[in-house]
Amino acid sequence: MKRTMVAELLRSGRVDTEVVVKGWVRTKRGNKNVAFIALNDGSTINNIQIVADVAAFDGELLKRITTGACICARGLLVESAGSGQRVEIQARELEVYGEADPETYPLQKKGHTLEFLREIAHLRPRTNTFGAVLRIRHAMAFAIHKFFNDKGFYYLHTPIITASDAEGAGAMFQVTTLDLKNPPRTEEGRIDYSQDFFGRSTNLTVSGQLEGELGATALSQIYTFGPTFRAENSNTPRHLAEFWMIEPEMAFYELEDNMDLAEEFLKYLIRYALDNCMEDLEFLNKMYDDGLVERLRSVVAEEFVRLDYTEGVEILKASGEKFEFPVEWGCDLQSEHERYLVERHFRKPVILINYPKEIKAFYMKQNDDGKTVRAMDVLFPKIGEIIGGSEREADYGKLDARIRELGMSMDTLWWYMDTRRFGSAPHSGFGLGFERLLLFVTGMANIRDVIPFPRTPKNAEF
Ligand code: 4AD
Ligand code: MG
Repeated sequence: MKRTMVAELLRSGRVDTEVVVKGWVRTKRGNKNVAFIALNDGSTINNIQIVADVAAFDGELLKRITTGACICARGLLVESAGSGQRVEIQARELEVYGEADPETYPLQKKGHTLEFLREIAHLRPRTNTFGAVLRIRHAMAFAIHKFFNDKGFYYLHTPIITASDAEGAGAMFQVTTLDLKNPPRTEEGRIDYSQDFFGRSTNLTVSGQLEGELGATALSQIYTFGPTFRAENSNTPRHLAEFWMIEPEMAFYELEDNMDLAEEFLKYLIRYALDNCMEDLEFLNKMYDDGLVERLRSVVAEEFVRLDYTEGVEILKASGEKFEFPVEWGCDLQSEHERYLVERHFRKPVILINYPKEIKAFYMKQNDDGKTVRAMDVLFPKIGEIIGGSEREADYGKLDARIRELGMSMDTLWWYMDTRRFGSAPHSGFGLGFERLLLFVTGMANIRDVIPFPRTPKNAEF
């Protein structure tokens, strides 16, 4: 007989039919007459209850069914007498696929702290919390592709290994096959990367944007969605060394159009979660964040504030707040500043634009004031920066001058300059940090808890 997923049985399984379920035991309780097994197969936060008449089964077999064991159950689907579930299974046959020794199985019936679960990240997908988070993560990835596909954007695969530094921030992981203990040297004594695998020095990408711009200036509208890597040594609840980023890039978009798209995109994703992930959201709301569902609804309903960086700084300075980092025009805003604007001053998401050029990347379109660039950061409650983007500098001369001013190497950017040399087009784009989005949507407080296998300083075990 074919197995049915638990989600489907609970939603629409017909009573008085025979069914087969397979999954992992969450709990077993009962008495000498009857055993109640709560089984989960990952298809839903809810367990199906399997009721076994103790007399009808081998006692040794029942003993092997403990929390964490993997089993197959065949039986009759019946209306459930207990509250909380529509149906349950009256067991006719039970088979144990794999035992989980209660003495050593790390996940017990009682709840575990998120810190403890991070230490057993290889097993935490079997908990309710991570089941919920991972299902929502999947739903958001699917919704991202759906949103762009429906709008006629093309998914562009950009390289993971690159020779350029897209953000010019220098926080890159090097990729090399050289023996760095004893590397080949040039005559001047520098490491000779011409003998490396690619014949040059390479690193893991920090962003697919530069290649994304090549796509946008040919296909008009593209997006990337892939892993990106930052070797910044920031051990915070909002930074990962390996995170996923979604980067749409659009020809003929000005900053205004870019903001419109970013706002529409975020609202679409949050609405998608509300429409499709309610059981998991309600669970997370109950367990971790009792304002979660309400916050999601309010962000979808509200118009985001659009504000100049300069005005933002004025508001912060006038606030009278004692910030850990004092604010001055020209400084990079910290998450305490971003969150003040969003959570205390405006009480809704804010898109901050026209930042000082010194704190933003080389490729941003320069404003006529000579001081600011057409950057936009979308700031969210609980998160701070969730999106960073800009209109791009389309003028060859201005971009060339800026790159030289910053002392960046044209050796790794000449191909990028060709977008401006040949048929240059006004264009814009942005990057959404996928895990920052998930922090917001799940209400989890630490970014390590919204990615299956977090990569952070001193942590790459699982
Ligand atoms: O602001 P960032 O650095 O912008 C870029 O990389 C641009 N190339 C994007 C573009 O215009 N196409 O990063 C974009 C977003 C941030 O707003 C944040 O959400 C996320 O990526 N992000 C991180 N998420 C987790 N861990 C980190 N270390 C992150 N760094 C950035
Ligand atoms: Mg940024």
